[in-house]
Amino acid sequence: EISFFFPKQQTVAVIKPDAMEEHKEAILEEIRGRGFSVTRLKETVLSREMAEEFYKEHREKPFFNQLVEFMCRGPCMMLVLTKENAVEEWRAMMGPTDPNKAKEASPESLRARFAADILHNSVHGSSNEQHAEEKIRFIFGDISTDAELTSDDPISE
Ligand code: PPS
Repeated sequence: EISFFFPKQQTVAVIKPDAMEEHKEAILEEIRGRGFSVTRLKETVLSREMAEEFYKEHREKPFFNQLVEFMCRGPCMMLVLTKENAVEEWRAMMGPTDPNKAKEASPESLRARFAADILHNSVHGSSNEQHAEEKIRFIFGDISTDAELTSDDPISE
């Protein structure tokens, strides 16, 4: 019998300010229901500096200021999701950036159901593994190795 082994991968998920009041619980439930482990979790109001750093890849975009202001306007929930193929699976769950496209292409997706427009789009996910690692370090500090914990580590059973 041939079986394939996909190593566990980590990605960053953010529940954005527009979704925190009404949809946080539904999103968390769906994340767990799809078999992701939530290996880190932090609810926080981003400072302007943090939001600018988090989205630094988009610094030159015309919407950068709007995006930063929106992300600071209230609490966000930042999560590390761990699962085989986590980056791609979380992006599929979110659906396309623009909820109008999401409604067409992926009506079950989170953005199709919860997002108002391309700015207020409810959730964020890392676009690749390298970004995920960088953002985990930025948000949670340098201990970004949950997926590698072994039985020798004091915090695992
Ligand atoms: S890009 O240009 O393809 O890299 O951008 P994209 O990945 O589609 O979007 C990056 C984030 O910017 C937000 N965004 C916008 N905000 C306001 N207005 C416009 N036109 C706009 N386009 C994109 C979008 O919500 C993305 O946020 P994240 O958190 O990455 O989903």
